[in-house]
Amino acid sequence: MKKIVVIGGGYVGLVSAAGLSEFGHRVTCVDIDNNKINQLNDGKIPIYEPGLNSLIESNCKKKRLYFSVDIEKEIKESDIIIIAVGTPQKKNGEVDLSYVKSVSKTISKSINKYKIICTKSTVPVGAGKMIEKILLKNNDITDFDYVSNPEFLREGSAVKDFLIPDRLVIGAKSEKAFSIMKEVYRPIYINETPIINTTIETAEMIKYASNAFLALKISYINDIANLCEEVNADVHEVAKAMGQDGRISSKFLHPGPGFGGSCFPKDTLALVQMGKKFNYPVKTIEAAIAVNQEQSLRMIEKIEYLLDNKISGKKIAVLGLSFKPQTDDIRESSATKIIPELINKGALVNAYDPVAIENFKIYYPNLNYFENWEDTVKDADVCVILTEWNEFRGIDLEKLKLLMSNPAILDSKNILSIEKLKKLDFKYENVGRKI
Ligand code: UDX
Ligand code: UDX
Repeated sequence: MKKIVVIGGGYVGLVSAAGLSEFGHRVTCVDIDNNKINQLNDGKIPIYEPGLNSLIESNCKKKRLYFSVDIEKEIKESDIIIIAVGTPQKKNGEVDLSYVKSVSKTISKSINKYKIICTKSTVPVGAGKMIEKILLKNNDITDFDYVSNPEFLREGSAVKDFLIPDRLVIGAKSEKAFSIMKEVYRPIYINETPIINTTIETAEMIKYASNAFLALKISYINDIANLCEEVNADVHEVAKAMGQDGRISSKFLHPGPGFGGSCFPKDTLALVQMGKKFNYPVKTIEAAIAVNQEQSLRMIEKIEYLLDNKISGKKIAVLGLSFKPQTDDIRESSATKIIPELINKGALVNAYDPVAIENFKIYYPNLNYFENWEDTVKDADVCVILTEWNEFRGIDLEKLKLLMSNPAILDSKNILSIEKLKKLDFKYENVGRKI
């Protein structure tokens, strides 16, 4: 059993803290946000993440998981410090490391004995060295090990991804640090999950190379989908056949309105910036970003087509505000890119999402929000599906037609039956399946 403090109680920090306590460690999750910690101490989970509530509840009951704002005290009492604060994107595409730097300074002032300081936040290659320098600057204690342990958690299935990962990546300089980290992940390790023991720089690079590759795969299939529309082919059959080749794999070949979320958009840009800094332009990823930007614009064109090029004054029902299903996270979601454009063009937007409305309202308070899809589409001129929530997959198309003023739909996630849409005389658009 190790004493662990996780700094940052966001989507990554909270899941990591809960997961590590499930492995039997005594974990405290600290955050500068008083409100968040108070909520957690009252048993309220500030984010929507399947399985997280019960994991937190059971580990709090077992007295293995705690929440606090007293970062200095928790650092002093811990064997392992995990940095999981946000690393947002700066205007120029680079990673904003200010939170990581300020947390590192705090750690350097409170360190009182040998500890492992481990970064889970996604940081550009070289950040580990910078953090080590900060840690050495403010105190006399040099007996610590710095470790890079990137996360590969998908929102919506983050709990499962934490407890049963495909692999663990540990970048460390000493055998001692590696074996302590191996001990931290013992339940996973005895399950024969591959553990990659590598350098700090390589660990940092693995994270970017993995995320950017997945983003590239999505942009690639979106490119192919757009071409399918021109040549009258069905992208789903193309993707399925491609996926049957083990070298390609079927994962992340689902076309749509472009990728979003807190990772892919930020990490692809950061990799491009890193390339520029080291005089090696990463052209494949530059292209993946460009395709992704154009993909949301294509969605606007599709909506324009469905409305005979007259968006102004039209009522548009948008279903799905989060960047993917099973999360309330709206960071870089298609809705955040498409809705402001529609409003600029004079549309009236009705919006609905099963869990993300409250988050969306913070940035877009003036939309007409509804509590179910039926009310959202009432008298709408076009319906636009942007997130593949299960309840949208099950939409009764006959009912939808009756409720709308005009039967037109953009199914940007390709979740509806084309045959049924045709039978009901919908004017429809999708991505790569025009046939
Ligand atoms: C994570 C990673 O940290 C990021 O590097 C990765 O690329 C995406 O996932 P995430 O958990 O999604 O970020 O961030 P967020 O939900 O914004 O949570 C960060 C938390 O850290 C917030 O609760 C914030 O209050 C807290 N924080 C921030 C601190 O406790 N201290 C700080 O100094 C700054
Ligand atoms: C991602 C990585 O998968 C995870 O390993 C990493 O650590 C954090 O970033 P996340 O952003 O939570 O996870 O979601 P993910 O499932 O990867 O989806 C990202 C975006 O790509 C979403 O907008 C999703 O809709 C889109 N996507 C995904 C597609 O458009 N097509 C696909 O086939 C898969």
